[in-house]
Amino acid sequence: MRLKGKRILVVGASSGLGRESGHALAREGARVVFAARRTDRIEAAAAAAGGGAFALPCDVRDEASCRAAVAAAIAGLGGLDALVYAPGISTFGPIEEIDASDWQDCFATNVIGLSLILNAAIAELEANRGKVVVFSSISIDDSPPRPKQATYLVTKVALERLIQAWQGEHRLVGFTSIANGDTLTEFGFGQDAAKLAPIVQRWFELDYMYGRMMDPAAVAEQVVNALASPETIRRIAITPCYAEALAVPADAQSTDAAAQGRKAVETIRGASRD
Ligand SMILES: NC(=O)c1ccc[n+]([C@@H]2O[C@H](COP(=O)([O-])OP(=O)(O)OC[C@H]3O[C@@H](n4cnc5c(N)ncnc54)[C@H](OP(=O)(O)O)[C@@H]3O)[C@@H](O)[C@H]2O)c1
Repeated sequence: MRLKGKRILVVGASSGLGRESGHALAREGARVVFAARRTDRIEAAAAAAGGGAFALPCDVRDEASCRAAVAAAIAGLGGLDALVYAPGISTFGPIEEIDASDWQDCFATNVIGLSLILNAAIAELEANRGKVVVFSSISIDDSPPRPKQATYLVTKVALERLIQAWQGEHRLVGFTSIANGDTLTEFGFGQDAAKLAPIVQRWFELDYMYGRMMDPAAVAEQVVNALASPETIRRIAITPCYAEALAVPADAQSTDAAAQGRKAVETIRGASRD
């Protein structure tokens, strides 16, 4: 058990990488708080994690909600050793169709929310020589950037600079960004599948998606590694393994880009947020 007794708040823990990370941390002996907006989801996630885990409602676009969630996490855990920040949203479509409210929502969720949570948590994290892990995205390393996801690219670049700014002013805390590749989560759920399919197909054609999507457990393992290390892991970049995608027999799964795109979108089609 590499994180025995560590007190960890995971924000954005109702699905996908946040929930998976919370469970991986609990398996390593941590006491985990699962925070997000969908309370039924975080309560179920905390119950499944065991080990004294509990759930707290939090909307990172709301400053008072961030303050309340951090205060309740610290009170319930008796302190705080680490924070994992997973909230992330995106628009999917031409840059000229993104309106002010889309930009504001993406910045509020992907960038400003982290700072609001840290405003409330940093004193306690400093007192405990704590750690912070934040989900960024490998897509910001791609040049030219993948098309039709401008809000996401711009906010994730801003997010990585924000993490560096926090690190620069708070040396007693170790900050890690995880720049992960495409992973099978609920990201993009609720989007219009007919609009999304050609966009994702195009990303496969341009070879941005490494031929397949990752299992969230492989990414969550890196959260454990970052938090268990005695050193500060500044940045982890993790992508699907090319060889594994290429090893799939052509008759079982076409390596044709359009087919791969359709397969990825198939996991999203028809799904809706509850
Ligand atoms: N999946 C990928 O391919 C991929 C690739 C690269 C990076 N990432 C990054 O990984 C992170 C996790 O995403 P995911 O793939 O696991 O997607 P996901 O399954 O959609 O999970 C997103 C989480 O963020 C939470 N969230 C969204 N808005 C929130 C808000 N206003 N306040 C509090 N929580 C909020 C959601 O909870 P509620 O809706 O219940 O609040 C949910 O728990 C994101 O930052 C994403 O950008 C994902």
